[in-house]
Amino acid sequence: MKDILAELEARRAVARAGGGARRVAAQHAKGKLTARERLELLLDEGSFEEFDMFVAHRCTDFGMEADRPAGDGVVTGWGTINGRQVYVFSQDFTVMGGSVSETHGAKICKIMDMALQNGAPVIGLNDSGGARIQEGVASLAAYGEVFQRNIMASGVVPQISLIMGPCAGGAVYSPAMTDFIFMVKDSSYMFVTGPDVAKTVTNEVVTAEELGGAGTHTRKSSVADGAFENDVEALAEVRRFVDFLPLSNREKPPVRPFHDDPARIEESLDTLVPDNPNQPYDMKELILKVADEGDFFEIQREFAGNIVTGFIRLEGSTVGVVANQPMVLAGCLDIDASRKAARFVRFCDAFDIPLLTFVDVPGFLPGTAQEYGGIIKHGAKLLYAYGEATVPKVTVITRKAYGGAYVVMASKHLRGDFSYAWPTAEIAVMGAKGAVEILYRAEQGDNGKIAQRTKEYEDRFANPFVAAEKGVIDEVIMPRATRRRVCRAFASLRGKKTAAPWKKHDNIPL
Ligand code: HXC
Repeated sequence: MKDILAELEARRAVARAGGGARRVAAQHAKGKLTARERLELLLDEGSFEEFDMFVAHRCTDFGMEADRPAGDGVVTGWGTINGRQVYVFSQDFTVMGGSVSETHGAKICKIMDMALQNGAPVIGLNDSGGARIQEGVASLAAYGEVFQRNIMASGVVPQISLIMGPCAGGAVYSPAMTDFIFMVKDSSYMFVTGPDVAKTVTNEVVTAEELGGAGTHTRKSSVADGAFENDVEALAEVRRFVDFLPLSNREKPPVRPFHDDPARIEESLDTLVPDNPNQPYDMKELILKVADEGDFFEIQREFAGNIVTGFIRLEGSTVGVVANQPMVLAGCLDIDASRKAARFVRFCDAFDIPLLTFVDVPGFLPGTAQEYGGIIKHGAKLLYAYGEATVPKVTVITRKAYGGAYVVMASKHLRGDFSYAWPTAEIAVMGAKGAVEILYRAEQGDNGKIAQRTKEYEDRFANPFVAAEKGVIDEVIMPRATRRRVCRAFASLRGKKTAAPWKKHDNIPL
């Protein structure tokens, strides 16, 4: 008996050693942690339950039968984050470069199936040289099985990808189908084809970092939702992030203890909007002042800064925030902002996370770049996402809400539950200057008359009261009381239920 116990311990020790001391040292030398070190930081201490530690590949080509490392380059199982269950896989670059074999893929599929069955998120720590070259199509098939599970799990359990090393070729499409992708700066990259192929085909000379590093994907492509300085920070932030999410679509988002008065008054908000309507201000200040304890987890901070998306808590419950940002492009909606916010809204709706929208939007960004790029279709994504969302929706218009953009930004007309306006709100088809140019074309050149017309228009429309008279906003509120009003609004919507006509699925303008 003793011998058997000793053998188990010995086998475990071998499996835990991964690719051996030399390769572990090489991993550390790149500033990267090993697969197991990462899981230790991600999960609550002592909570990790491993599956398939002894699984080995079945390949017999290229002399592979002589090299069958236990675990086959991926550590899988489940554990907890602040006491809440998550399923995890962590690719081990020290074992055949973390490459994906038939059995490596099957291990990932096993935990995805369990996550779906038991209703808990899947967190993938990606660090892999891609398809195991020696296994050929068996490896591609393994990827295909993972992809299909990503699709089946979408909208059922949250899926989070952390890219902590190479992720190239078709392998990128598994993270691409998860809900959120976070990257580690300088040590991770993602691309469909690498720098060498780019050079051959397009004659471009580009480094891996330039082509697919964290900077590229958080600022240019928007493939990634955030980037962190190193493995330790990335794993700590994912822990923080998971705290905001429900475990599945069968559960409500978590309610945490909070130490912030829901009725807290913020007098400084009364002067947040400048007197000059063309002067920007920082919408993030409003978000931070409304949130419990000023805690805000921002999504896609580096991309499309004209719209801000992320998670806060109100009375301890998670709320998704979407806000126009007057500091960037005057808060206009453009292609990037529409796509960014639409995806965020759909995630929140899929997982029953209420939506809070702060509006200061002068309209859609004009120009050929936008029209040729399909702003019609991309803007429709946001409109559609808001309109289909059935979660509680509370909107606060702080300043401009002009034209089509007014309707798009979670207006009452898109089944918004509460629409509040600050006294500084201006809800109209367009701003005074543009309106007067069209309505009084004949008087252009007569500066006195135009000034008078502009004043008339401003007096009539540069306020929230016309909209309040018509009931398209529910109430004009004091800026300082925004947190209290919004908390009460969401509290009143906790029992919200809606009905929808039967359909197989919708056809959002992709
Ligand atoms: C088998 C692999 C491997 C792979 C790396 N290794 N990639 N083994 N299949 N795909 C092994 C190496 O042989 C080496 O083994 C160890 O992992 C570390 O690799 P190094 O090259 O020494 O490391 P490094 O210099 O850091 O370079 C990492 C790398 C490079 C850039 C990822 O290994 C590389 O280019 N690998 C091939 C990438 C690739 O073309 N993959 C297929 C992509 S297509 P030893 O024993 O020396 O430690 C794809 C399609 C997916 O993935 C399709 C889905 C539908």
